[in-house]
Amino acid sequence: MTWHPANPIRHTIPETRWPTRAEAAGSLLFQPIQINSLTLEQRTWVPAMVPWRATADGFVTRENLEWYGRFAQGRPGAIVVEATGVRDIPSGPLLRIGHDRFLPGLSELVETVRRASDGHTRLFIQIIDFLSVKRRPEPAKYFARFLRLDERHRRALVAATGDDGWLAASEPAMRAFLADAPAELVEKVLDERELETLTRGYRERVTDTHLPHVEELPRVLPGIFADAAGRAREAGFDGVELHYAHAYTMASFLSARNTRADGYGGARQSRVRLPLEVYRAVRERVGDTYTVGVRFLGDEVIAGGSRLADAIYFAGEFARAGFDFLSLSKGGKFEDAAQPKVGHAVYPYTGESGYECMPTVRSDERGPFGRNVSLATAVKRAVNEQGFRTPVVVAGGIATFKQAEEILRRNDADIVGAARQTLADPDWFLKASLGRGAEVRRCTYTNYCEGLDQSHKQVTCKLWDRVQLDEPNVSLSHDGRRRLLPPGWNAEGTEEGEGMKEGEGAKGKG
Ligand SMILES: Cc1cc2nc3c(=O)[nH]c(=O)nc-3n(C[C@H](O)[C@H](O)[C@H](O)COP(=O)(O)O)c2cc1C
Ligand code: SF4
Repeated sequence: MTWHPANPIRHTIPETRWPTRAEAAGSLLFQPIQINSLTLEQRTWVPAMVPWRATADGFVTRENLEWYGRFAQGRPGAIVVEATGVRDIPSGPLLRIGHDRFLPGLSELVETVRRASDGHTRLFIQIIDFLSVKRRPEPAKYFARFLRLDERHRRALVAATGDDGWLAASEPAMRAFLADAPAELVEKVLDERELETLTRGYRERVTDTHLPHVEELPRVLPGIFADAAGRAREAGFDGVELHYAHAYTMASFLSARNTRADGYGGARQSRVRLPLEVYRAVRERVGDTYTVGVRFLGDEVIAGGSRLADAIYFAGEFARAGFDFLSLSKGGKFEDAAQPKVGHAVYPYTGESGYECMPTVRSDERGPFGRNVSLATAVKRAVNEQGFRTPVVVAGGIATFKQAEEILRRNDADIVGAARQTLADPDWFLKASLGRGAEVRRCTYTNYCEGLDQSHKQVTCKLWDRVQLDEPNVSLSHDGRRRLLPPGWNAEGTEEGEGMKEGEGAKGKG
């Protein structure tokens, strides 16, 4: 069950006025912007979205190529390729960049986007490290195999049952007893982490420094990220985005909940230390002119987590260190995620923080549109006041030309990202710029796509995945029931100066 605000209000997709072609040409949204040595032709941006299309061992597939090629046809200023694993370890059908064997596929991806956008779109790749998250176990299996018994459990059993016999009982007897015991007794015997593993599945944290591979993260991650960034450059990407957001390793170092005592946790200055060391190693590897950006959280939206004041501090440090863009996101944490079903892993977009990451129309009075803008603006103001011009990317419920243009006119951010709206209609930038905004297929913000992501199914959009299934050469999902790409759109026939008039804006589907 995914979290939503109490007593939700069901918002409708507001009508909007799309620009004429001349208005679009004079807008800020369709003006170029410089990022390090690159020029984005326009300030439109497609943030990272995992589409579950890689092979089981992390290689680029034909479906990946088609997915990014289709986005490129809309010619946004930039596309960020989905979170791509930096390590050479199995991670299911998520793209990987932890070894040179991934290079041919990634190079083909770059070529595909260049061709499909006719060289108009810049391509970045988001690189990520994550810690182990296991599925919620069958209780019988947990007690029989996973629980490590020690003296503490014996004493707790004695205290809970009043029976001294547990001090000398055999392990199989303890396991069998616990497997059949009522929840209240189990809660008295297991500690907090053991209970979490039983009820939600095992999940590592950056604070688990008793585990050697977690303890050594500060020593190994700079080199691993640097190698991955070097490969991104070799494959031809225009830049890398270091994934310091949501529920993953680097975000966990930045988190106010990071209490590591080895100089990499506690105070903000210590929490930002590894993220900066990773950045420096990456920069050293790829050189000064290559674009290196970062995605991080304006607010973690969890109890005891980092808030806007932390984000402002981190942003200043990132800008000073030399990051080329700062892309803001919000929430998306494990800590408040819903309890998964047995056999499933916890999914970090099911709690309140997940809601804030990808808000839906079942919302509070503020609605799902542009909820992150104030965070990005506060970060941008603070960074600019410190004398840095590092471009700030904002995303989250931004789906119309009007919204995007107003954000830029107010100087609230420098670049506008739209993930779900671009999934709903990858041509929407092109349609808006050609004065054909009335043809935009507008996202309804009900998160069918996110539900597919949650169940690790190939991500599609409900607005187009069942239409024209009999088209020749249409690629279908594994179950054969959904098309994997939206139907094409033909920009031909756009007259010079053609466009929408006031009040003719496309209506949403509510
Ligand atoms: C299917 C799906 C997959 C996503 N995967 C990623 C990801 O790999 N990395 C990331 O930083 N954000 C990811 N996001 C979050 C989006 O980049 C974006 O921040 C979020 O959807 C809010 O923007 P929107 O309202 O424009 O959709 C994903 C979102 C969706 C819907
Ligand atoms: S599935 Fe729904 S929320 Fe996702 S892109 Fe399509 S319309 Fe938007």
